Amino acid sequence: MSMAAEETKNPEAAAIDNVAAIFGVTGLVGKVLARKLISTPKWKVYGIARAPDHQIIPIDQSSSNFHFIQCDLLNPLETQKRLPLLQDVTHVFWVTWASQYQLDSIECCDQNRAMMSNALDAILPGAMALRHVSLQTGMKHYVSLQGPFDEIEEARYYNEESPRVNPSYNFYYVLEDLLKERLHGKIGWSVHRPGLLIGSSSRTLYNFMGSLCVYGSICKHLNLPFVFGGTKKCWEETCIDGSDARLVADQHIWAATNVDLDDHSNTFNAINGPSFTWREIWKAVAEKLGVQVSEEHTFSEDFWYSKAMADKQQVWEQIVAEKGLVETEMDNLANWDFLDVLFRCPVKILGTREKVDGLGFTVRYKTVDSIMYWIDCMRDEKLIP
Ligand SMILES: NC(=O)c1ccc[n+]([C@@H]2O[C@H](COP(=O)([O-])OP(=O)(O)OC[C@H]3O[C@@H](n4cnc5c(N)ncnc54)[C@H](OP(=O)(O)O)[C@@H]3O)[C@@H](O)[C@H]2O)c1
Repeated sequence: MSMAAEETKNPEAAAIDNVAAIFGVTGLVGKVLARKLISTPKWKVYGIARAPDHQIIPIDQSSSNFHFIQCDLLNPLETQKRLPLLQDVTHVFWVTWASQYQLDSIECCDQNRAMMSNALDAILPGAMALRHVSLQTGMKHYVSLQGPFDEIEEARYYNEESPRVNPSYNFYYVLEDLLKERLHGKIGWSVHRPGLLIGSSSRTLYNFMGSLCVYGSICKHLNLPFVFGGTKKCWEETCIDGSDARLVADQHIWAATNVDLDDHSNTFNAINGPSFTWREIWKAVAEKLGVQVSEEHTFSEDFWYSKAMADKQQVWEQIVAEKGLVETEMDNLANWDFLDVLFRCPVKILGTREKVDGLGFTVRYKTVDSIMYWIDCMRDEKLIP
């Protein structure tokens, strides 16, 4: 059959310019990427994860340009069997990671290398039209959380050329090096480094919005004060960048489709822009979640989420049932140890946006606005009341 005859038979095929493979499609950024790309007829989208999520697209749109592929990327045989389907892929988005081992451990590096190698081994031989691989890592590229930490260290703003931390086992370095080794001189690639991701997912280990919203919902339900439990420094000073999942998704698409990149300029911080402190936004967040804050009870160095929330699983079950929410266990959304570490982080992890600004990527959000937006989204998805 001629190309023209094929296009008449399937007019949708004629309009498609790009074919995306989103690895980690049910995660914080994967979901947004999928929704953005599916909403334009120019993209066909393959989404890969271990389990489907029917909130990515409404179930009744099963004839859309979205194709879910269930695959455990840590299983090389399964990956070899399921991914060669992706022969028409033009753009890969790597927004996943293997989280079984402790960050900064050699095992974590090995596992993440194996996961990406499995995927590349399965798709590279057949994907003849592949043009770009977009990798998501993070601002932890610039710091080690293992110390020692200098108490009086001033805030430092890392740009993309800031050196790797040495010696350190950081799986971000391993993934960057692997892409360079496998793609250099053949296929374009870029790296995106978000700060604290602000988005919605029930498949995320380090889920800030899930943790914040479950905590707020429990406070409201039990009439407890909404406390910031952490260090004075984290409460009062600018310590971390917010990264709206919409911004990070837009930046992936922008770099994958619009910029001529070479190995020296393909790494980008992916951060909201305007800085913030938890102290200046806490009251607005509390009001949005419908919980009370009082000057006296708001900030506490002695309050640990992992202790205060340890016995609240049943309270969450009750909230889910009473409010008719999508069924989740508390720890599908909330990670109390993560919140404890985040609000007690001994180092400031802050970046500059000069590089993307200079190249014309204009998307910016105020972090408090990102938080408000994603609370509304999680309510719309019936993940929280
Ligand atoms: N979370 C943050 O705040 C944050 C901040 C800065 C940087 N980062 C970095 O961003 C990158 C992505 O992390 P994220 O937090 O955005 O992702 P995430 O929301 O945790 O999503 C992970 C995705 O990968 C899938 N997945 C996990 N293991 C898999 C496997 N073995 N096979 C197939 N799919 C698998 C998950 O779905 P299933 O579980 O259903 O398979 C999910 O779709 C990481 O490098 C992370 O360090 C994250």
